[in-house]
Amino acid sequence: MTTGSLLAVDLVLAVLVAAGWLGGGAAAAVRRRPLALALAAVALLATLARAITITALARAGWWFVAEKVLVAAPLSLAAVAAAGPRWRSVAGDIRSVAVPLLFAGYATSGALFVTVLHGYPASVGAGLLTVAGVVTATAVSWRALGVRPPRVLSRVALVVAVGAVVTGTGLTVVPNATPVVPHDHAYRDERTTDEPTRRFTLTAGTATVSVSGRDVAAWAFNAQVPGPELTATVGDVVEVTLRNRDIGRGVTLHWHGYDVPNSQDGVPGVTQAAVRPGQEFVYRFRADQAGTYWYHTHAVSDVGVRMGLYGVLVVHPGPMVGLDATIPVHTLAGRPLPDARVEPVAAGTPVRLRLINTDSTTHRYALAGTAFRVAAIDGSDLRGPTSLVDTAVLIPAGGRYDLVFDAPETPAALFVDGRAVYSTGPVSAATGDWPVLDPLGYGAAAAVPWSRFDRTFTLVLDRGLDLHDLLPRYAHTVNGAADPDIPPQVVRLGDVVRFTIVNRSAIVHPWHLHGHHVLVLSRDRRPAAGSPLWLDSFDVRPGEVWEVAFRADNPGVWANHCHNLAHADAGMTMHLMYS
Ligand code: C2O
Ligand code: CU
Repeated sequence: MTTGSLLAVDLVLAVLVAAGWLGGGAAAAVRRRPLALALAAVALLATLARAITITALARAGWWFVAEKVLVAAPLSLAAVAAAGPRWRSVAGDIRSVAVPLLFAGYATSGALFVTVLHGYPASVGAGLLTVAGVVTATAVSWRALGVRPPRVLSRVALVVAVGAVVTGTGLTVVPNATPVVPHDHAYRDERTTDEPTRRFTLTAGTATVSVSGRDVAAWAFNAQVPGPELTATVGDVVEVTLRNRDIGRGVTLHWHGYDVPNSQDGVPGVTQAAVRPGQEFVYRFRADQAGTYWYHTHAVSDVGVRMGLYGVLVVHPGPMVGLDATIPVHTLAGRPLPDARVEPVAAGTPVRLRLINTDSTTHRYALAGTAFRVAAIDGSDLRGPTSLVDTAVLIPAGGRYDLVFDAPETPAALFVDGRAVYSTGPVSAATGDWPVLDPLGYGAAAAVPWSRFDRTFTLVLDRGLDLHDLLPRYAHTVNGAADPDIPPQVVRLGDVVRFTIVNRSAIVHPWHLHGHHVLVLSRDRRPAAGSPLWLDSFDVRPGEVWEVAFRADNPGVWANHCHNLAHADAGMTMHLMYS
């Protein structure tokens, strides 16, 4: 079983345990003896089963079980101790075991709340708060059932509650982050006279665009979704003037996957101020990385990108040969882009399909009718890619795969989530049950260029309650904190930095570090065995542990966030900072 499914099974068991005890207590209170006994038996069995799931999870890493071992296990044991022996031996009035059963229910529900609302890392505050809640609820039940609670109980509740408040109510307190200083970078002219310059102007504005024959409201660059395709050749200087016509919440341009100087990175509040209606900003950087990239607004990026403020950036290594097509996949107003395109091509023509996922969730791409190779991922060429046939690829949010093949005599077609998006002629193929390529085992391996790491950071991804401008929200968290309270990762120029990224949550988090490409070292402790993978966007699935590394060679303050932009917005954003 994968760690992700273990996490899910364990959660279901925890719900069963809590519901069993609570239901048993309620049934006992109204003297429904058989029901009470049955529910308590369910709780006991599920508790036993949890011993197995928690042990298995512990083997995947302490991050997955910290609060289960420190909070849930003691509370479950207390529950079993209080309720376990009594309900069997009870011969007389079943109502007399109602309170112990309810106590067991409160204890295990409390532990469940810690997992769901607080997560990792476990904190003393959260533990004490839970105990205080359990004691209080038990005392109240005692009263309600017409039994006087022992005086000592209310004293315990009081002491524990005070302790919880004093230790800082771990549920809401987050580490104090060094604030990221917004600096209004004056645009620095890095022009030298003899470089060929590719100049573009992108004007952001509200627009009506047509998607599969229907008009929808969008936010667009130059009134089109996606925005104009920007192309350059390695060595060019790219100069893009961004204008904002009427996007009230502001726009910027972020060059996704392009490791530009920090001042050109387009993150509002960090590298520049958002460009307001009527304003403009000029971006300028040297195109020194070949490959497939994209650009998008980073101001209210969740809404902005979804509404259409994105486009393709392709940098060619030299003169183009054959057919070169970009396929940026997006969902606009609930409809898939791009519209299907048919492009007949002579047999033998070299074809390069640049697949780009500009949505916030993973897409599945399947190329039918031809053998192909994955030539590059996230703009970096792979080493020794082998020929694939009838194999699908999963591209994470923000990610890019370049597929190459020589056009066969018969048509080939690209399907995205089962829909034909691009073809050289009519193809019918059922691609749904094709195996999926694992890039960590594809291509020819090479040694990792570093043998030691100057800094290691662990990022545990989860969900939790958080106070945002004093309003509680169910945030997407990193190490128990949410933006803007996640401490930045501080590095020195030249450091070799390792990230361990752990997904404790039940959803996929496509990770994206700005300004650097990271080399994948391992996933779930298994070393990457294929071509070196230099990624800027990778899916960390539930229960997965990724180890990646990079050299800190691009000074500045860099966003480091989940590229499910709704998650980024709901807390899962932090920064890499050079000291
Ligand atoms: Cu493609 Cu910070 O984003
Ligand atoms: Cu996410």
